[in-house]
Amino acid sequence: MNIILLGPPGAGKGTQARILVDRDGMVQLSTGDMLREAVAAGTEIGRQAKAVMDAGDLVTDEIVIGIISDRLDRPDVKGGAIFDGFPRTLAQADALQSLLAEKGMALDAVVEMRCDDEELIERVVGRFTCAHCGEGYHATYKMPDKEGVCDKCGSTEFKHRPDDNREAMQNRLLVYYKETSPLIGYYHAKGSLKSVDGTAAIDTVTASIADAIR
Ligand code: AP5
Repeated sequence: MNIILLGPPGAGKGTQARILVDRDGMVQLSTGDMLREAVAAGTEIGRQAKAVMDAGDLVTDEIVIGIISDRLDRPDVKGGAIFDGFPRTLAQADALQSLLAEKGMALDAVVEMRCDDEELIERVVGRFTCAHCGEGYHATYKMPDKEGVCDKCGSTEFKHRPDDNREAMQNRLLVYYKETSPLIGYYHAKGSLKSVDGTAAIDTVTASIADAIR
């Protein structure tokens, strides 16, 4: 099964994708993660993407379509893929349709995760992760049990995404409504859109997604 998780920044796409990976053995194709890896590795794509990502704007269609096209050539996607943060423009959606057809794959469902803006801003501005194991924390909802020490691996180093601040987040939301939300109508017209309430508890969202893609 191949699905798209579609939703604004902070809607929980990554959280739910990781649950599907653990539960169903699907692979998570997060263009955000792939671009952050390119930035960390200092590749040419990473150099082009860094300032754009920090400001909360979109990296060019050409770059992200190229990244996804290469990733779809790897054999692990045959067990099912979760597109997390891709497509984000109508051009990317058209490109994905062509790529899937070329590679003999089908799109089974598009799950829209709805959430209100204030909650999204609060979720994103407060989040940070362990620099060593990637465990996620939140300044209000989930601090480490012992201050400054990761519950999972004991590391004392944490990181905060450069685009997880109020100013960049407001731009990310604007970009979402302008460039990405038209995909809701696009996939609705194709009959593949399902919507879930992304403001519910994480387990409840997981159950709603399971129902939506059944
Ligand atoms: P990307 O990495 O895709 O970021 P994003 O879309 O802004 O999404 P986030 O990762 O912030 O949120 P999420 O929906 O995954 O939520 P999460 O599960 O983390 O993209 C970053 C940048 O890369 C873009 O701005 C752009 O520049 C570039 N880019 C990427 N893809 C691109 C593309 N296709 N085209 C062009 N440019 C591209 O959850 C958020 C927080 O909420 C966490 O703390 C989590 O614990 C918490 N949470 C999750 N679910 C719940 C819940 N149900 N209740 C309470 N808290 C919850």
